[in-house]
Amino acid sequence: MLVEINQLVKRYKDLIAVDHLSLSVAEGEIYGLLGPNGSGKTTVINCMLSLLSYDSGSVYLFGKEMTPTNYEIKKRIGLVMQNIGVYDELSVEENIDYFCGLYIRDKNLRREAVNDAIKFVELDDFRKFRPKKLSGGLLRRLNLACGIAHRPDLIILDEPTVAVDPQSRSRILEGIKDLAHQGKTIIYTTHYMEEVEYLCDRLTIIDKGKEIITGTSEEIKNISSKGEVVTMDIFELGSVAKERLSQLPGLLSFNYENGKANFVFSKGQSHLIQLLRILEDFQVEVLNISVKRPSLNDVFLEVTGKELRDNV
Ligand SMILES: Nc1ncnc2c1ncn2[C@@H]1O[C@H](COP(=O)(O)OP(=O)(O)OP(=O)(O)O)[C@@H](O)[C@H]1O
Ligand SMILES: [Mg+2]
Repeated sequence: MLVEINQLVKRYKDLIAVDHLSLSVAEGEIYGLLGPNGSGKTTVINCMLSLLSYDSGSVYLFGKEMTPTNYEIKKRIGLVMQNIGVYDELSVEENIDYFCGLYIRDKNLRREAVNDAIKFVELDDFRKFRPKKLSGGLLRRLNLACGIAHRPDLIILDEPTVAVDPQSRSRILEGIKDLAHQGKTIIYTTHYMEEVEYLCDRLTIIDKGKEIITGTSEEIKNISSKGEVVTMDIFELGSVAKERLSQLPGLLSFNYENGKANFVFSKGQSHLIQLLRILEDFQVEVLNISVKRPSLNDVFLEVTGKELRDNV
């Protein structure tokens, strides 16, 4: 495993910010750390990188114990912090060059790396701009470029899309997928479950510094007691068709009223195809279909009794 965190504990006086948390990330994985505000995501990252001391537990990166002075490991890590950390006096290009220069001394190599990073975040037209002149989304992209220009193997992104417009957000998410395709290992923290579902191979949901559950998002959603809920607008439904529909496997409830059909299925296998086949057999005209599956938020709600997305 490229990252191994074992029984990590971090206390701030009476508050346990990280509570016996263990997780491991394989090489090439995009790993999500999902939790509401204040659940300890940033603290886990800071402890993991030895930017913050912790009370107990251990952290191994690239098979070696991480310590504050382990520069060999630090060189191989790119951190994109939640709070934007760029210099106002430096242009876009100079900022990226500065951060890259902390790791890459060779000038030619560095110029190439900086150019690649600028291309990667699509800031070519803004090279000479000062950060103050950039919109929020562009600034996030600059922050990202500063964190990854030195071509690290392990990239840690702490809520990189907060306060970013939808277009920049999808650009950032695409970029992260590209990095993974290049073989980078990525740890991604967020409180947006949609991002985790889209990006992450595996994830851990945390709350109050504790692991709630770990797995792929499919595995996690499967623990929900909820199944699929299918609703559709059907102008006309004969009694024989109705009878057949009510015998669908896995059906918990079915009703048809005022042109609206509502099917609730038990968890497990999807029965949508069978449902559609029956409608086809009876040549039933369907105007609108919606299928709702349990979300990560449903699971979080079931386990903790509160919403994952408490605020923005
Ligand atoms: N320096 C500090 N001193 C005392 N308490 C702190 C400190 N830093 C963080 N905390 C507390 O530790 C807990 C975890 O905070 P942390 O910033 O790691 O959460 P987070 O999941 O990153 O939240 P967010 O989504 O808002 O970024 C919170 O209760 C926070 O108030
Ligand atoms: Mg945070």
